[in-house]
Amino acid sequence: MKKASLISVGAYTPKHILTNFDLEKMVDTSNEWIVKRTGINTRCIAKDEVTSDLATKAALVALQRSGLDKSEIDALICATVTPDYFCMPSTACKIASNLNLNNVTAFDISAACTGFIYLLDIAKSMIESGSKKNVLIVGAEKFSSIIDWSDRSTCVLFGDGAGAAVISARDDNEIIDIHTSSDGSKGDLLITPGCGTVNPASQEVLDKKLNFLHMAGNEVFKVAVQTLTKDVVDILEKNKIASEQVDLFIPHQANLRIIEAVKQRLNFTDEQCVVTVSKYGNTSSASIPMAMNEAYESGRLKQGDLILLDAFGGGFTWGSALLKFGGK
Ligand code: UT7
Repeated sequence: MKKASLISVGAYTPKHILTNFDLEKMVDTSNEWIVKRTGINTRCIAKDEVTSDLATKAALVALQRSGLDKSEIDALICATVTPDYFCMPSTACKIASNLNLNNVTAFDISAACTGFIYLLDIAKSMIESGSKKNVLIVGAEKFSSIIDWSDRSTCVLFGDGAGAAVISARDDNEIIDIHTSSDGSKGDLLITPGCGTVNPASQEVLDKKLNFLHMAGNEVFKVAVQTLTKDVVDILEKNKIASEQVDLFIPHQANLRIIEAVKQRLNFTDEQCVVTVSKYGNTSSASIPMAMNEAYESGRLKQGDLILLDAFGGGFTWGSALLKFGGK
């Protein structure tokens, strides 16, 4: 059986930067509160670009770095909760068209901030089953389109961006293990209530702002810390890996305090942790590949490095992954 290996990574962020000081002029907040409670200073906002534009630019970088020809890509999967269109066509089909990838399997998945871990799980299964050889995965979000810019409890947290990776059949530097899970009973705590079949689009839905993201932040925070801490401890124990053996811990970037809590529990050093939340805020499914890309471009992530990923998000969904980086 061939192993699945993550052989390249890429990312793209829109050019417009929204600072905490900009937000001070929009809602009743302060730079001090945002930095203290979240660790966020800035986030990128897409003005004239949609989700598939961000995704296409990230995917192109990952594709170029993979050294593969476009014709070798068998499947393109996009994780997003801010797709170009509500129902169809999928964002993945649009990205495939933008990249001139003809006749590939293309579809979207919805796992909120855990999207990239779910993508890895699917791509690994496709490759190990022998059904695909090279899978392009993309986490891409335009969260600015589902944010109520008058709600200070959410508008300071999120940003736009995309990250991509190529997963290929290889003999070494494999994806070692992935764990994904969910608890739908807590779905109401992080939700966009409107425009689905429960509350179809209507003037009332817009008036009540049900088309925007609603989050019980404090409750989500507590479950995220507990769940993520247990998940990363479990995956390391299961694979008999000590935390000091991990070269890079690349967590979902929602809140610096959540990252710090997991980091302390595992005794990770600053050198082991990749933190980008200060620059980009929470970019949901894009946050892990964006952080991985930053580590790669700065020279912190090298071929053969052992990486631990974790994520938690709406659904609830969560997951973790252990892999050796296969990129050059
Ligand atoms: O990625 C998907 C998963 N998402 C997450 O993991 C996010 C999890 N949640 C969080 O990161 C944090 O809960 C938040 C950053 C959202 C909020 O931090 P918190 O420490 O849990 O604050 P809180 O919600 O308990 O609110 C504390 C106070 C409240 O005021 P009172 O009631 O104490 O007077 C809020 O109204 O802070 C107030 N507040 C703000 N003040 C200034 C809430 N948002 C703001 C704001 N600026 N932007």
